[in-house]
Formats: sequence, structure tokens, C-alpha cells
Amino acid sequence: MAIQPILRMGHPNLRTEASDYPVDQIGTDAFSMLIENMRDTLKDAGGIGLAAPQIDVPFRVVIIDIPEGKSRYGVLSALGFTVLINPVITVLDESTAGFWEGCLSVPGLRGYVERPQSIKVSYLDDQGQTIEHEFMGFPATVVQHELDHLAGRLYIDHIKDTTLLSFEAEFDRYLAEPSRP
Ligand code: NI
Repeated sequence: MAIQPILRMGHPNLRTEASDYPVDQIGTDAFSMLIENMRDTLKDAGGIGLAAPQIDVPFRVVIIDIPEGKSRYGVLSALGFTVLINPVITVLDESTAGFWEGCLSVPGLRGYVERPQSIKVSYLDDQGQTIEHEFMGFPATVVQHELDHLAGRLYIDHIKDTTLLSFEAEFDRYLAEPSRP
């Protein structure tokens, strides 16, 4: 295990645009170690996505792992462990839906953010293969949240109604839908 410290909001490196990961480094020991560190850190923190800048690595690398079934975000559409290198996003449909987001770099808070729900992402996978994939619904929100980190953005930047920003305990008590599983 190689759990890394996660930078928290206020650290300037979370607000810095990341660089493309050098393609010729994919598959090297350094690359494998980066992915392993990110995976261990994500698992330890109990999150569903992590961007390299969050562990102070200034490259455009993201991992996502959305478990099936119930989690702290309710019942989700699953997305297995996915590595996205140098991702480029295209919005396929501008219509949005909102989710309560959280972030390992903004611990203890939840905020309601609306984002497009149909996107296409072109990226390199951990084998260096070019992949084009469409993401819909909650996974589309998660991908956009993680890609924001690569541009120095945090989800709180997208909150339009700041009454919909809450600590987790108050969220659970007052804001979570009663029907929420
Ligand atoms: Ni985040």
C-alpha cells in the first residue's frame, strides 16, 4: 500500500492546471506506481474518483471506481475501475441534472451541482490505447468532477445556490431526500 496525503482546498496546487501525462511514460514503473498510489489512496479514503493533482502529481491522470449498489452517494450506476489519461471531453447534450457532490479535497461537505448528463470522453487507458467512451447520468457527473481537477477547478465553483452547500451531518439530517435509499 502506498497511500498518499490528499491535498485540501486552499492548497494552490489544486488550483493549477495539470500537464498532459507524457505518453512515452505509460507502462513504465513510475506510471504503475502512480496508478497504484492513486488506487490505494482512493480506496483508503472511500472515494469514487481521484485526480493526480489531488495527491500533488501535476499530470492529467484520473481514476474512477464507482461501486455497484448502495454507497454514500445512494444507489448508483456502477462504473468499474477506469484510468483516464489526458482526457478530452465533448458535451453531447447541454441539458443538465443535479447531484449532491462531495470531494476528498473538500472533506466534510456536500454541494448540489448541475452538469450535462451526456458526454463523450476521448482518453488513453492504462495500456496507452486511445478510447472514446460516452458517459451518461451519474458517471457523467463523476467524470466531469474529476476532469475539473485537471483544470484547477473544484465542484464548489459550480454551485449556483449556496444554500445547497452543507456539512455532511446536516445534509443527512435536513437535505437528503426522505426516499433516499
Ligand atoms: Ni474531487
